[in-house]
Amino acid sequence: MATLATNVLGIDFENPFVLASAPPTAKIESIDKAFTLGWGGAVLKTITPDNLEMIEASERYATWKVGNKICGFENIELLSHLTLQQWLNGIKYLKQKHPTKVQIASIMAPVAKEEWQNLVRTFNNSEVDAFELNFSCPHGMPEKGIGMAIGTNAEISAMITKWVTEVARKPVFVKLSPNVTNIAEIAKAVEKAGAGGISAINTVQSLMGIDLDTFEPLPKVNGKTTFGGYSGISVKPIGLRCVAQIRQNIELPILGIGGIANWHDAAEYMTVGADVVQVCTEVMANGYGVIGAMKQGLLGYLESKGFKSPADLKNRAIGNLSTHEKLPKSTQVYPHIDDEICVKCGKCVTICDESEHSALLLVDGHITVNKKVCVGCSLCSHVCPKSAIKMQK
Ligand SMILES: Cc1cc2nc3c(=O)[nH]c(=O)nc-3n(C[C@H](O)[C@H](O)[C@H](O)COP(=O)(O)O)c2cc1C
Repeated sequence: MATLATNVLGIDFENPFVLASAPPTAKIESIDKAFTLGWGGAVLKTITPDNLEMIEASERYATWKVGNKICGFENIELLSHLTLQQWLNGIKYLKQKHPTKVQIASIMAPVAKEEWQNLVRTFNNSEVDAFELNFSCPHGMPEKGIGMAIGTNAEISAMITKWVTEVARKPVFVKLSPNVTNIAEIAKAVEKAGAGGISAINTVQSLMGIDLDTFEPLPKVNGKTTFGGYSGISVKPIGLRCVAQIRQNIELPILGIGGIANWHDAAEYMTVGADVVQVCTEVMANGYGVIGAMKQGLLGYLESKGFKSPADLKNRAIGNLSTHEKLPKSTQVYPHIDDEICVKCGKCVTICDESEHSALLLVDGHITVNKKVCVGCSLCSHVCPKSAIKMQK
């Protein structure tokens, strides 16, 4: 029998599904509900000193949809609106009611030693299990020199990590931004400065679109906008790549984040180094209830593979990541078309022809492959509307 339980830096997670710091963790009552529904933990909406001004814009969201499905959010929301005392009371209440659930305090302060250390001291005696340093919010805060302005600079990231770890009496995770040239460099810098673990990724800086009638960019704030943070299933490949790059360079625990919408996404993150995962947009799109299928699916998968816990899955795919130069290129695959599924629409023929190779032909009502010119790129298999093409040796 497998278990979903796992331990990270001495913290017991009853399951590896944690709510990311965001609107689903902005209110004590909502976190209470999420814990009751089965989430293993929550990273609280980023907490700042009470005197840091937080004036929000309306609208705050724009979405990328394919049909009715939300593939990504852009948001320009700022941080928590609760006071430090409200958080302290709420954390205590939640721990009493849900003693097995993990609470992580996400924090952010101006770049001043006193400010960061005061914030840490405020929560040192609280019931939170760990800290997460938000060095990665891409909108609003960088204009004040914080958020992503910190996480895009290895030296400042290391300096603040050091300030925090000097006084923190709980494990410290640093939440990194994908909006950098080399995320592993920042991860290495904060590891050296004493971080206990890494959370990655925060949102990807974005501009969702433009209203072509009025030339107003989205989301519209009385006709204007600012660059925002992109999240949801469409950022998963970026998050997965970032986590893999971090894991290739350091051994600290990683809380994997970015576009996780089901157990499969979570399992993939674990194979490239995540110990547990965090989820935000999927919950904002479909509610806390998604946790049921996530837990059930991951448990079933672990059991089908003979794994005992999420820890058994960790890093399984890392050894298969290589450089392009070292890829085994001596054999080639070819498209195999399932004639019974193929509807002979000819899309694969057109795309192959117009994308360099002209290796597919529609002859006598069948798609045929000219192996002399086919390079095995696999594009045809991806554009086939019926998934009738499989690549085979
Ligand atoms: C509306 C919104 C608000 C967010 N607020 C915070 C925040 O206060 N602190 C933080 O560290 N990350 C914040 N995030 C980022 C998420 O925690 C998460 O890193 C990101 O959305 C990627 O995960 P996802 O694809 O599951 O949404 C926010 C995301 C959204 C969509």
